[in-house]
Amino acid sequence: MHSKAHDVSAPSLLETLRTGTGLLHVALEKRLPFFSEHLDTDWYRRLLQAYYGFYQPMEAALYGSGLIPDGYDAASRTKTPTLVNDLYALGLNEHTLRVLPRCTQLPDLDTPAACLGTLYVLEGATLGGQVLRREMALRLAIDADNGGAFLDIYGVETGRRWKDFLDYLARVPLDATARERAVIAARSTFSGFEQWLDSQEVLL
Ligand code: HEM
Repeated sequence: MHSKAHDVSAPSLLETLRTGTGLLHVALEKRLPFFSEHLDTDWYRRLLQAYYGFYQPMEAALYGSGLIPDGYDAASRTKTPTLVNDLYALGLNEHTLRVLPRCTQLPDLDTPAACLGTLYVLEGATLGGQVLRREMALRLAIDADNGGAFLDIYGVETGRRWKDFLDYLARVPLDATARERAVIAARSTFSGFEQWLDSQEVLL
């Protein structure tokens, strides 16, 4: 029988994710304050605290789900520890870190496809990080040593690691329903992140 999963005319998972999230990316990018003339170190620190409040529970849920398809190198792609180091560099201590607000409304990670959709968003964000890293160095003199390591998390390896991630995505066989499930999760990750940042009053 003809299987949709092997239909060469069907859009790939990556294409489906791109078309499904492109507008949400543009919307969020516009509201992030990295290029605002009013951004100062205090706002940057509050922004990173809010990032932590999303990434920490999000990565805990992802890695705790046991649903990430084989082949994803979670240990080397985890981002929360780098955010923690940045926040220490920006003046937080164990106590102030522990009591930071954390997002409780996370996307449903109930299928491998949903995990992939969310990982696509978190991995893709490392690409924009390269632009933001340069901007923060110029404007606030923040670099990898004093609070900006998260934005440059993969450093010179950013392009190669994105390519490796795309190769991994392409290797996971997903039928049309699962691809749709992945897009729903990717969209909820974008919108959940935006709503969370909004609630923390760090957006424009
Ligand atoms: C002001 C903030 C941001 C800027 C300037 C920015 C910029 C970029 C740039 C330049 C790319 C690479 C496009 C390409 O090479 O074709 C990219 C890709 C991407 N970004 Fe952002 N970004 C920002 C924030 C974010 C955030 C907060 C997220 C998610 C949490 C995100 C998720 C993604 C994803 C998933 C991709 C991959 C798109 C693809 O090629 O499939 N970005 N971004």
